[in-house]
Amino acid sequence: MIVNKISDLESIKNKTLEMTKLDSVKKTARITVHMGTCGIASGAKDVLNSLKNKLKDEHIKNIEIKTTGCIGICSKEPLITVERFGEEPIIYEYVNVEKLNEIYDSHIKKGNVIAKYALARGKEVELEERVDNNGHIESQKIVDSSIKGIEEIPFFRKQKRIVMRNRGAIDPYKITDYISRDGYMAAYKAVTELDSQKIIEEVLDSGLRGRGGAGFPTGLKWKFASKADSKEKYIICNADEGDPGAFMDRSVLESDPHSIIEGMIIAAKAVGATKGFIYCRAEYPLAVEILNKALSQARAYGILGKNIFDSNFDLDIEVYEGAGAFVCGEETALIHSIEGKRGNPRLKIPYPAQKGVFSKPTVINNVETLANISPIILNGSDWFRQIGSEKSKGTKVFSITGDINNVGCVEIPIGTSIKTVLDDIADGTQQGSTIKAVQLGGPSGGCLPANYFDTQLDYEPLQELGVIMGSGGMIAINDKKSAVDIARFFMNFCADESCGKCLPGREGTRQMLNILNKICDGKGNKEDVAKLEDLAQVVKKTALCGLGKTAPNPILSTLKYFKNEYEEAVKE
Ligand SMILES: Cc1cc2nc3c(=O)[nH]c(=O)nc-3n(C[C@H](O)[C@H](O)[C@H](O)COP(=O)(O)O)c2cc1C
Ligand code: SF4
Ligand code: FES
Repeated sequence: MIVNKISDLESIKNKTLEMTKLDSVKKTARITVHMGTCGIASGAKDVLNSLKNKLKDEHIKNIEIKTTGCIGICSKEPLITVERFGEEPIIYEYVNVEKLNEIYDSHIKKGNVIAKYALARGKEVELEERVDNNGHIESQKIVDSSIKGIEEIPFFRKQKRIVMRNRGAIDPYKITDYISRDGYMAAYKAVTELDSQKIIEEVLDSGLRGRGGAGFPTGLKWKFASKADSKEKYIICNADEGDPGAFMDRSVLESDPHSIIEGMIIAAKAVGATKGFIYCRAEYPLAVEILNKALSQARAYGILGKNIFDSNFDLDIEVYEGAGAFVCGEETALIHSIEGKRGNPRLKIPYPAQKGVFSKPTVINNVETLANISPIILNGSDWFRQIGSEKSKGTKVFSITGDINNVGCVEIPIGTSIKTVLDDIADGTQQGSTIKAVQLGGPSGGCLPANYFDTQLDYEPLQELGVIMGSGGMIAINDKKSAVDIARFFMNFCADESCGKCLPGREGTRQMLNILNKICDGKGNKEDVAKLEDLAQVVKKTALCGLGKTAPNPILSTLKYFKNEYEEAVKE
């Protein structure tokens, strides 16, 4: 089917919504298996296959199996959601084939929930409705009130989902699922009703800042590119995500690929681009597969290609697989990589918006930035501006890892405190230890000690303390770990990943690593610490690209806040 009119989208939406009603499709139950990479790594495929075989062997036709991406709480995978007609859904955690068999016999067949395996009652997409109705949805019978409602669990309750609005609710392989949640309505509006200036104004007014790290205003970037004089322009989605401890973008790509495609369509219309690339690392095979499927479905529906929505607007997008070098996430290196050249960065001027891929004006935006676009176009910039902090609007997705109980992907309003994320959402750390620091922004970021945990997660407040929000990696570090060792870990990574083009980046990172190794091996002295600090300052000031300029940050922040640990390590 080719979508030409808004009524085409509405009719797909209504038909799909009808199909999600169990009674309309003559089903008594639906079992959703959450199949993000984290779920699959924990055994979700075995659970899914076992379930399929069971229904086949028993000739069961009235139970539906659905798959979606992850729901963000990676440490409790594999997760499944069981819905019986007219009853409250139950999310089960740490499911394996044995538990599935029990859940099947007891809950799915007979309606007896197994509370000891349950994580929560309710679905995340219904969370707001549950909060408004005292934790209950009228059409759903409560089956076991001893299980916590999803709205009672801080991991879910304290999040605000814009980017992750569809997680756990849609099958990423089905464009119709995306359309059923108002997908492509914003693209339709942008392509058929708004001109370039109006789209850019809306994005500028929203206050959206790029989520790839630097926080540059997205509308401004688009404005520059729209003014560039060229018939040929490009839009690129940066899905390289190479920092250790970061998996926010992967989670979005795997659970909601069309949200990125839709953001790219709107960006392309705004700047006048007719060709797009999604630069995704090859180490994300599931994301690449899902994206390619989503692109071919969008083409089949006429949402990509020639004359989109019968409007004379053309755009096609392809996935470009990166080979996994961290530096290729840097935009000028990424451009070289797409051109088939070695992924070396260059000086930023001219900016990609003036001279980007194949020397044409190019907009490069992060996955999360693009996922914010359609809600802004659909709901308006005023709506978006109500969320977030004074200077930074909207939400930020973090991947929270390290010494915490709930490892996963979380989306919070910008301005939420570090403490809220660590204590409430992440549910603190293992008994017998405390979190002494948090590493924000991966290898380009810094290490902040616990006495600053009241700080808001926002660009400027963190920068003032010598750390950055970055693209959203957050690693909790407990009191059993050494800050010097953390600095060494990240420097090791940067020295390995440095492309070798400039001397400070090539030799400086290597020398800093050598000194850190010496200190960690108990062979360092006070002069080494002083030399390390000097070298870090020099590399920060003189490296050619962002990798080298930010590589000293973990050293500088640990020297600032954990100097005592360096002194202890070099005690004669
Ligand atoms: C070493 C290095 C790696 C980077 N990796 C990424 C990345 O994986 N994803 C990303 O979106 N931006 C990355 N960036 C930032 C990009 O260069 C660019 O600023 C960003 O994609 C712009 O998108 P935004 O305006 O939507 O944030 C990296 C920068 C540096 C210096
Ligand atoms: S700092 Fe220099 S050597 Fe290191 S990645 Fe950047 S350009 Fe390459
Ligand atoms: S719950 Fe999936 S990225 Fe994890």
